[in-house]
Amino acid sequence: MADKQPLDFPTWLAALKKCRRCGLCETRTQAVAGEYRENPMIFMLGEAPGGREDQEGRPFCGQAGGILDDFLRLAELKREEVYISNVVKCRPTRPSNRGIYGDYANRKPTAEEIKTCSPWLELELRLLAPKLLVTLGGVPLSYVMGGSAAVGRYHGQVFYWRTHNVWVYPLYHPAALIYDASKKEAYEQDVRRLGQMCRDLTENPQKWQALLDDKQ
Ligand code: URA
Repeated sequence: MADKQPLDFPTWLAALKKCRRCGLCETRTQAVAGEYRENPMIFMLGEAPGGREDQEGRPFCGQAGGILDDFLRLAELKREEVYISNVVKCRPTRPSNRGIYGDYANRKPTAEEIKTCSPWLELELRLLAPKLLVTLGGVPLSYVMGGSAAVGRYHGQVFYWRTHNVWVYPLYHPAALIYDASKKEAYEQDVRRLGQMCRDLTENPQKWQALLDDKQ
């Protein structure tokens, strides 16, 4: 029997695009994943695609994406240096006659949808093997922590995720700023610190590797 080929990103993506494991495939335009980068330092993980992302097939290209771009500028990071994706790959919808994108509005993914979609994320993390995982909002943070986690409590506090041998940096979801401007100051401070951490990861890789080795 021929040896099994190691999985690569294009094969993973082609399989994802055909996924019909849950009901979200009935209303999606397409499954959405990030634009491939080789060895990205940072993996930014959001919740699920919204209407615009579902149509364009790119994560964070709608209103929340504009805020994400602002904060990447503040952290002095370029989108090209970062891989961006979501916990759930298809847009969770609810029927609505006020939806901007078709007859549906966005909603949060259910626990069942997150669980069903998780093998895609697990493989994606293994394929990209980032140094730093930035969680955007409560859904990805809860995924990483394995239970309900409040971003208000953990934002800006780095921790190590053994499963994927990666540092995790929790941030508020960019859309949180659309609804609650009082978070702006904390958010900007977290983002500046994230930029510093990324520069330190690049300039002092041995220091961070030693910290990881200690945790192994
Ligand atoms: N919000 C998310 O969490 N992900 C997107 O891709 C867009 C908006």
